[in-house]
Amino acid sequence: MSDASGFPKLTAQEAAETIHHGDVIGASGFTLSGYPKAVPVALAQRAREFHDRGEPFQVAVYTGASAGEEMDGELARARAISRRYPYQSHPDLRSAINDGSIEFVDFHLSHMAQYVRAGFLPRPTVALVEAVDVTPEGHIYLSTSGGSSASYLQMADRIIIEINRFYGDGLKGYHDVFIPAPPPGRQEIPVFRVSDRIGQPFVAVPRDRIAGIVETEAQDSTRPFKEPDATARAIAGHIVEFLKHEHRQGRLPDGLPFQSGVGNVANAVLAAIATEPSMSAISLYTEVIQDSLFQLADNDRLLFASGTAITLSPMAQIRFRRELELFRSRVILRQQEISNHPELVRRLGVVAMNTALEMDIFGNVNSTHVLGSSMMNGIGGSADFTRNAYLPIFMTPSTQKGGRISAVVPMVTHVDHSEHSTKIFVTEQGLADVRGLAPVARARRIIDQCAHPDYRPLLIEYLEYGLRHAPARHTPHVLDRAFEFHIRYRETGTMRV
Ligand code: COA
Repeated sequence: MSDASGFPKLTAQEAAETIHHGDVIGASGFTLSGYPKAVPVALAQRAREFHDRGEPFQVAVYTGASAGEEMDGELARARAISRRYPYQSHPDLRSAINDGSIEFVDFHLSHMAQYVRAGFLPRPTVALVEAVDVTPEGHIYLSTSGGSSASYLQMADRIIIEINRFYGDGLKGYHDVFIPAPPPGRQEIPVFRVSDRIGQPFVAVPRDRIAGIVETEAQDSTRPFKEPDATARAIAGHIVEFLKHEHRQGRLPDGLPFQSGVGNVANAVLAAIATEPSMSAISLYTEVIQDSLFQLADNDRLLFASGTAITLSPMAQIRFRRELELFRSRVILRQQEISNHPELVRRLGVVAMNTALEMDIFGNVNSTHVLGSSMMNGIGGSADFTRNAYLPIFMTPSTQKGGRISAVVPMVTHVDHSEHSTKIFVTEQGLADVRGLAPVARARRIIDQCAHPDYRPLLIEYLEYGLRHAPARHTPHVLDRAFEFHIRYRETGTMRV
């Protein structure tokens, strides 16, 4: 059977049968939005059948970022993934990565598409993307995520498209698809304002590579919206006060766009901006557009939002579907290479706000590894933005696990963002602005403003001990004590003495 576009209409199982052991799948999907939902489930079943017969079946999977339960969960549990790039957040996939059965490579998201196009990674053999439409000439209109889909689609031998009817044609026109020319000789990427459109609303592919389409009608399996808790509200409050102060000092020009990371704290900060009477309307130049889009719009605080994905809670997806016409002129979805591009983040003067797992007293940040070895999600776009931001902000609750873990430690067990990139740190305790401070002054400010009172004396004692005993006073680390918080946690279950 064929679709009106002329492409073979397949069941998910028929589509999965075109995928073979050893294939490299370039898939859509970014932070639980716009990922294929039917074919991966059938592919997981296919892998199980191979495994039951004692035959191997594994594929490498590239995406934009994390995919939902139907893809990352199903494929991980079926042991159908050999390698996974560049980001993930599903608990079952995470445990397979941490038990060593899946090779995971944690990439800066802005690098992914160019690395694949340059041949640094194996070429995708199959592109598997979710879209809202495909035309007879091979114009694919992507669904809720841009990710790296355009590059995967243009490189793969075979293309399988899941046409998801949940949003339908109303989502057409949101995407702006632009692939930069290869270096050398690449010209500037002509985004000068957050709202600039520079490409096409679809990805064009040769129609003979489209192996078939599979129809679905399903929401992205996102998490329900959680009202920010007291900690998130306190962090948001410190950030809003700081932004107002910077504005009064003339250091924060009007019109700088904001990037905010994933999760509830990020939502809480944007919600606080939306409801603070003295803040003016803002633009987002970000990776993931979340529910706070509506809070900003409802409070007349949204100028424009540019991202690579729109990841909304289940209720907010229903509202978005209803209001697609209303938001079309105020939202752009780009390829992640553009939404996170260092050139553009620097040019536009983005205020970047990301979440840390832990930070050390000298300003290094760990976003990815628990106790130095266990992968959480990945670096995502946090470094694309932080390193190039006008103002980089890191936020985190000052403690975790009922106070047994301090987010401020003598030395982080893994460095994602070095002291050279970081500037502003925030916990519910307060905000440390360390711009222009040398390491020891920086440490005093971070301990004083951000550490939980239970841990402040321990951190001060470490710093003072270092000033007396470290081989140098510039960054007075004492190597045999630098991980004493983590070792104590491992041995006693708490970082407290
Ligand atoms: N040590 C051990 N565990 C820690 C920890 C630490 N220092 N900090 C947090 N955790 C645990 C929490 O207790 C929680 O555990 P649980 O799932 O058992 O409850 C878990 O890690 C997640 O913590 P939470 O506070 O709920 O985090 P979050 O949802 O706000 O996410 C990050 C925080 C850092 C994991 C997340 O922001 C991330 O992956 N960042 C990197 C990518 C990124 O920044 N993307 C955005 C760029 S645009």
